[in-house]
Amino acid sequence: MNAHDRHPTLRARDPELAALIDQQIDHESTTLKMIPSESFAPLEVLEACGSMLTNKYCEGYPFARYYEGNEFVDQIESLAIERAKQCFGAEHANVQPYSGSPANQAVYRALCTNGAADAAETTTCDKVKVMALSLPLGGHLTHGWKASFSGQDFQQIPYGYDLETGAIDFDQVRELAKRERPRMIWVGASSYPRLLDYSKFAEIAQEVEAYLVADMAHINALIVAGVHPDPVPYCDVVTSTSHKMLCGPRAGFILSKQEDRWKHLYHPASKMDLAKRLDNGVFPTLQGGPHVHVMAAMATAFRRAMTPEFKAYGRQIVANAKHLAEKLMERGHRLATGGTDNHIVLIDLRASEHTGKDFAKALAKCGIIGNFNMVPGDQRKPFVTSGVRLGTPSLTGMGMKEKDMERVAAWIDEVYRHIGDIDTVATRIQGEIKEFCDTFNIPGIRE
Ligand SMILES: Cc1ncc(COP(=O)(O)O)c(C=O)c1O
Repeated sequence: MNAHDRHPTLRARDPELAALIDQQIDHESTTLKMIPSESFAPLEVLEACGSMLTNKYCEGYPFARYYEGNEFVDQIESLAIERAKQCFGAEHANVQPYSGSPANQAVYRALCTNGAADAAETTTCDKVKVMALSLPLGGHLTHGWKASFSGQDFQQIPYGYDLETGAIDFDQVRELAKRERPRMIWVGASSYPRLLDYSKFAEIAQEVEAYLVADMAHINALIVAGVHPDPVPYCDVVTSTSHKMLCGPRAGFILSKQEDRWKHLYHPASKMDLAKRLDNGVFPTLQGGPHVHVMAAMATAFRRAMTPEFKAYGRQIVANAKHLAEKLMERGHRLATGGTDNHIVLIDLRASEHTGKDFAKALAKCGIIGNFNMVPGDQRKPFVTSGVRLGTPSLTGMGMKEKDMERVAAWIDEVYRHIGDIDTVATRIQGEIKEFCDTFNIPGIRE
């Protein structure tokens, strides 16, 4: 598809906006998109997301709506729910969260506070404790970090890992959980390059009578592909985004068990089981009308996620990240936790004169788009950092393999060596990368 086949109506009616979108498309198709939380949504996702379904109001859930005219919408949402359940082997799915953060917010409403429908309950839930990986160690804002609602309304009990290897000491986590008695334990991260052992967290959650909640936003495709442990059998609830490596629309979804195993402790007066509490936590507690066009795009993303090709993509994401990590280490770069088991390569600049921000900006100048990021043990400020976080989902989506990672590693290394005089190499590297990108397909852009 060339630029002029895209959004012809928008181009005719609002050329100013169309030109900006075209520039973004050109940028993404001529640079190495290495932000680990990004991917390329394929055309069928873009078409569903751009469809007239955006017009429809359908507050409620399938076949129980507050608006008329939803016969087909009911089927669309049901299809997305059934495919989500099938794709991840879950008992229950909610596909209405507007994004990952609202999905997590709904979990707090359902598990850690009294929802409107349970107003009869008298338990006071101020500052319920939630255990999670802290933000500087790679956890997400919504897992109880103080800058977010989750750290303001709840008390985070942070657990950690060995700063050199990334290994989680489960004896320490158990001891902490026994002492603090959190109501909920989050297992999930935005910047942690190692595998998460949900079965070990599940034992601890059982012992301390806590809900176990996985946030698989970053690694959902790896779970589908079988290259990361599966949280669904072990967790009460699993949240996710449908964008990032899943290549769906920008949204969130929640999977869960049907039954609330701790109802007698935390919601004794509730008439709802776990699945119903979560649905209620999304609508009406938190959100209004669901985004039908987005749920439709999710449905088709889940269909794609169940294909053998998608599973191969998931496996290749990890193979590429491991190879990239190896090649960078061979060139002398230090990586947080000493490597990767997933899609993230976190370059550790603690011992470098250069900051994460300097390196990320130099990379971007040359056409390698990542982000500066805290690394474990970072002494620099969050807006400066000692790390650069890179990921392989988008490059893998373009069809890149291990041998291509060798070229990518060489460019990254060259940029590092020229941070101080980046203008001397930027134009040439940019040109090489553009030429390299031209040899690949790009889902949604050049299929
Ligand atoms: C682990 C994790 N959970 C949740 C989110 C939130 O997703 P969103 O940005 O869609 O709100 C993110 C986003 O980066 C994430 O990394």
